[in-house]
Amino acid sequence: MGYVLSVVSQKGGVGKTTTAVNLAAAFAKRGMKTLIIDVDPQGSVRYGVGLRRGHPTVGFADYLNGARPLRDVILPTALPWLRVMLAGTVTDEVDHVRYHQLVSDTRVLPDLLETSKQRCEVVVVDSPPGLGPVTRRVLEGSDHVIVPLQCEPLALQTTPQILRAIQDIVQANEKLTLDGLLLTMHERNNPASERVVDYVRRHIPANLVFDVTIPRTTATADAFAAGQPVVLRTPADPAALAYTQLASVLVRRFE
Ligand SMILES: Nc1ncnc2c1ncn2[C@@H]1O[C@H](COP(=O)(O)OP(=O)(O)OP(=O)(O)O)[C@@H](O)[C@H]1O
Ligand SMILES: [Mg+2]
Repeated sequence: MGYVLSVVSQKGGVGKTTTAVNLAAAFAKRGMKTLIIDVDPQGSVRYGVGLRRGHPTVGFADYLNGARPLRDVILPTALPWLRVMLAGTVTDEVDHVRYHQLVSDTRVLPDLLETSKQRCEVVVVDSPPGLGPVTRRVLEGSDHVIVPLQCEPLALQTTPQILRAIQDIVQANEKLTLDGLLLTMHERNNPASERVVDYVRRHIPANLVFDVTIPRTTATADAFAAGQPVVLRTPADPAALAYTQLASVLVRRFE
């Protein structure tokens, strides 16, 4: 039986997808049978995970609405131990409304997570921004959760609120562990960025913040643009090394 690790955040653009994709690749590189599931209708995992050219684009939404069986929506990637379930077909407004309704009104998502962890060592879930019904369903089926926090000035105002909201959800689910806040896009020598790190380290209990921080690097953004996780494309890049180290920390916690 494996573990479901979800990446969630109230805020958008904080590095959720980058974190999900790189952790999944780092687990798979260690030889762990890994599945990454994208439940964000924006479907960004598709662009960052390293799929073969001309791959199908079906995914979770097509399984959710009954259009495709599970075996059709689990796709191979360039890494032998990494499989991916893309977001699938959620193109227009009608699709979006139906998507959210189906996630809220059915148990398809938590049941999928339960089935997936019986077949994999780790299931990584990339979620949409916000703590809406999709994220809540994800957390219902998760064992571990990571909350990326971008090192930018607004984080000082939003962090306590984000942490409280997530802690409320975590407390309602006894099998869910909040592994911690992950400081992302950290820029050394940038005072605004350093202030966030300083604030978080001083005000949030140490067991709720990872020691590892993810630096902002050009290689990370370039890798995403090139359709590959940075841990595969530029393994010696500082952000790639940080994600690899974070994966090791998590593996120790899974044991
Ligand atoms: N460590 C990093 N260094 C440089 N760029 C980064 C880093 N992490 C993320 N980015 C860039 O920041 C942008 C937002 O990252 P990402 O898409 O992972 O955030 P997100 O939280 O998933 O966003 P959304 O809420 O829209 O789903 C992307 O362009 C990504 O390439
Ligand atoms: Mg995303």
